Order: sequence, then structure tokens, then C-alpha cells
Amino acid sequence: MYGKMPELKIGNLIAKTPIIQGGMGVGISLSGLASAVANEGGIGIIASVGLGILKGKKKDKIHEANANFFRDEIRLARSKTKGIIGVNIMMALTDHQKLIEVAVEEKVDVVIVGAGLPLKLPKSVTDKGFNNLHTNFIPIVSSGRAAKLIFHHWAKKFNYIPDAVIIEGPKAGGHLGFKAEEIQSENSTLEKILPDVLESIKPFAEKFKKEIPVIVAGGIYTGKDIHEFLSLGASGVQMATRFVATHECDADDEFKQMYVDCKEEDITLIKSPVGLPGRAIKNEFLESVEKGNKKPFTCPWKCLRTCDVNTAPYCIANALVAAQKGKFKFGFAFAGTNAYKIDKIVSVKELMDSLKLEYLSEITTMKLDPEKEIDNPFTPIIPDLGMQNSMSAYK
Ligand SMILES: Cc1cc2nc3c(=O)[nH]c(=O)nc-3n(C[C@H](O)[C@H](O)[C@H](O)COP(=O)(O)O)c2cc1C
Repeated sequence: MYGKMPELKIGNLIAKTPIIQGGMGVGISLSGLASAVANEGGIGIIASVGLGILKGKKKDKIHEANANFFRDEIRLARSKTKGIIGVNIMMALTDHQKLIEVAVEEKVDVVIVGAGLPLKLPKSVTDKGFNNLHTNFIPIVSSGRAAKLIFHHWAKKFNYIPDAVIIEGPKAGGHLGFKAEEIQSENSTLEKILPDVLESIKPFAEKFKKEIPVIVAGGIYTGKDIHEFLSLGASGVQMATRFVATHECDADDEFKQMYVDCKEEDITLIKSPVGLPGRAIKNEFLESVEKGNKKPFTCPWKCLRTCDVNTAPYCIANALVAAQKGKFKFGFAFAGTNAYKIDKIVSVKELMDSLKLEYLSEITTMKLDPEKEIDNPFTPIIPDLGMQNSMSAYK
């Protein structure tokens, strides 16, 4: 019995594989990784944060450099794929407006906005009217309440609603949209948040006569996991941790090796200078910070709205740039709860193929087991493994 993963439709885009590669800041997901994922039928995401510091020179004006290097990465990705390319922009960045404008000017397929509620989008974007733009807008939320707030505000102010929504659960890597005490709570699981979000956006989807795919993120590791969440009503998944351990990931090999070498007990929660909890791999740098050792720094620009330069124990931008370059004496790696399961570095194609096979095997197992009810709406009748196709999207 054959079948394949369902496509993911967002507005007028169709991704052959319902997998968005999560944006990974400060140089972990740039044009290299994003284009490789797009070429395999997924949605490749370039993270916008920190490019001026990562690639610029000391004399550069940082916000200008951020925007210029970001534009370069989008163009580079476009030159390597005809697939779907998007960007991730953190609302906590002081220059998020400029970065959104660059993304829209460059006609990226999707803009994913997280780390803050994107209630106001730049005037230059809203002036044009969302319907006149090439770009689809996708907020990241961690609750049905946050989703409702964004949908309500956009509907009222812009007569428009988001083109999809991503729920990031507590198992994700990087900064988390939960209070520290919520992270372990039984009520904060992705399985519990998903029905809440589906319910809270339903009236808006009906009013605007628009299909709003809900995508889940945080701890999705296998094709079986993808199958589980699609069965629960998600239209796709966003995965980041697994894409770090690929040849195409834009980080230094030392960064990837950190994932291969880490153990379950090394994955830890930190209190980031951004003011949010974050999940990372324990190392000497983090242990030293935890002991109260400050890493003095000067900050000529203030890249994050929420960072207080006077009290922050270290500069997170510098720490993440160092890690991206493999210099772990001066930084640390963000990672999701499942990073310890990774035991080798593979190509994006190998990873995507293995996820498809696992998904397929899950469907087949369910078909063969009469005890198990098949609740997946995508009946596997087409004799196609869905792996030959490298083009992903057509606008
Ligand atoms: C190294 C790393 C960096 C990340 N950077 C960002 C970021 O810049 N912006 C963002 O919205 N999410 C960021 N995330 C979160 C991911 O995009 C993704 O939603 C999440 O990690 C999914 O969970 P998973 O890693 O278990 O697959 C980051 C995650 C990792 C592992």
C-alpha cells in the first residue's frame, strides 16, 4: 500500500511536503539550508536576526548592514531554488519593521513573525493592502488566546487575517513563548494547544471565507510525529532541530557536532537576556553564566527591544555569533528537546526522504492493524512515494 504526505497549501502556495524548516537565528538557517529544503518540496526559511553582526565589519551601521545582508541572503536563496522561500522575523528586534519591508520588497513567499505579538505591521506594508502583496503572513503563537488576539486585531484594523498560523509548543529550541512555570505544565502541550487554536480561528476563517492552515512546531522529530499531528487537525509541521544536523545547515560543523554529541541531560532551559526562557545545550559558557559570572560588553545599537544592556549578564547576539562560528568558549547553541536523539549529519534530501518513509510506514501500519482507527483524511491510494519531485511551489 503506497501513499504520500499531503501537500501544504498556504494562500496560493502549494508545498509538496507539509514541512516548514523553522527559522534559526544568527546564521543557522540562511540561504544554504533554506534553498535545500525548498528544493526537496518543503518551505525553506531564512532567519533574519543578527546578520549585520555575523557578516558585517565593525564600522558598519548595524541596522543598515542587517537589512543589506538579509536582502543578499534572500536573493541567494532564490538563485538556488524555484521552491518556496520564506523568512523569520522576530518582533522583539528593534529593526523588525525594516526587515519586514525588505522581505516584502524581495517578494518572499512567506513572512513568519514570532517573539512578540505582530499586532502592527509596517505602514508601508499595510498601505499597499495585503491582497496586493505576493507575500503570505504567518504569526507564531503559543496559545489559542494569542491567535484570537492577532486574528481579531488584523480583521478589525486591516480587514485581513493571517494566511496561516504556527503554534510553537514548549519542546521547541531557541526562545520560548511560555513563562518558565508553564513549560512543564500538562496544559501547555502542543496536543492541548492545537484544538484551542483551531477553535479560536474558526470564526475568522468562516467570516473571511479563507482556509487557514495551522502548523505545529516544537519536538516534531519523526514521520510518525508528523502523522500524529496531521491526524489531530494540523495542516503541516515546522521543524528546526533536525535540520541543524544537515550538511546544508549554514552553521559551522562544530555547531552541528554539538548536536551529535549532546546527551538528554545536556538539554537545558536558560533565562535569556531577551527576557524569555530559552532551550539550549549546556556548556561551559552557560555554566559560567549560571554561576553569576558576567561577560562585560558594550552595545552600540541595542538589537532587541527587551534587552537591558545594564543588567544583561552577556550579549546574546555576540554569544550566538560565536556559536555559529563554532567558538563555544564564547557562546552556546540553542536546541530543541530532541537534539540528543541526533547521531549523525545527513543531507537535507536524506532527512526529508526518511521522514516521508516513516510517515508512509505509519499509514501502512494503521491500515494493516484493524484495531487502529485511521483518522488521517489523506487516504493513501496513489502509488507514489513522493520523493522524486524536487520542485516545490508554483505561485
Ligand atoms: C538553533 C535554533 C535557533 C532558533 N532561532 C529562532 C529564531 O531566530 N526565530 C524564531 O522564531 N524561532 C527560532 N527557533 C525556533 C524554531 O524556528 C522552531 O520553531 C522550533 O525550534 C521547532 O522545534 P524543534 O526544534 O523541536 O523542531 C530556533 C530554534 C533553534 C533550534
